[in-house]
Amino acid sequence: MKFFIDTADIEQIKEILPTGLVDGVTTNPSLIAKQGKDMRGIIESICEIVKGPVSAEVTATDYENMKKEGLYLSSIAKNIAVKVPLTEDGLKTCRELSNKGIMVNVTLCFSAGQAILAAKSGATFISPFVGRLDDINESGIGLIKEIYEIYKNYNFQTSILVASVRSMEHIIESAKIGAQIATLPPKLIKELFIHPLTDKGLKAFLEDWKKTGQKIIPDNG
Ligand code: G3P
Repeated sequence: MKFFIDTADIEQIKEILPTGLVDGVTTNPSLIAKQGKDMRGIIESICEIVKGPVSAEVTATDYENMKKEGLYLSSIAKNIAVKVPLTEDGLKTCRELSNKGIMVNVTLCFSAGQAILAAKSGATFISPFVGRLDDINESGIGLIKEIYEIYKNYNFQTSILVASVRSMEHIIESAKIGAQIATLPPKLIKELFIHPLTDKGLKAFLEDWKKTGQKIIPDNG
């Protein structure tokens, strides 16, 4: 499973980069707005340090302007994935951009029917928002399962990019289904490392080792 980081905060990305776990980045207008900085500058700085796909979202809602914005965003760096919403104009834009060899991430997906349309429109990535479906008492993971099954049936080449991830359960259940990518808030990446029994076991190892009075590398090493 690939992990993308779901943030526009360059410092958070820099902090996680050394783990080697950053396969890409997703941003959206809300994440950009949180930074209070120029959008282009943010995207350029992310693309300078992250080699995998970096999603940058259009904000126009009509096809002609979505296409113009998508071409502009794509020109910022070679690893840009243009994000378009799952609307009729968004999918027309997706078709146009993907025909030009531009990566497209179709976002705000909430149904299997929408996901079929995105795949048929040539989407590189489909972003089903699992957390927001859970918020309205629908099953976000259930949607991932449906999409995975349908895409497999027709050998669609669109990658499932699980978004709106709120918990370890979302990550693990998506991985058990076989979703190719999960885009994670930075705090969730950190949580993946943590288990109380790991901390407890390491503490016991080190206490026992200390009793030996030895060092791994002897002083004369
Ligand atoms: O990638 C989409 C994500 O940023 C939305 O997450 O928690 O606002 O639904 P959330």
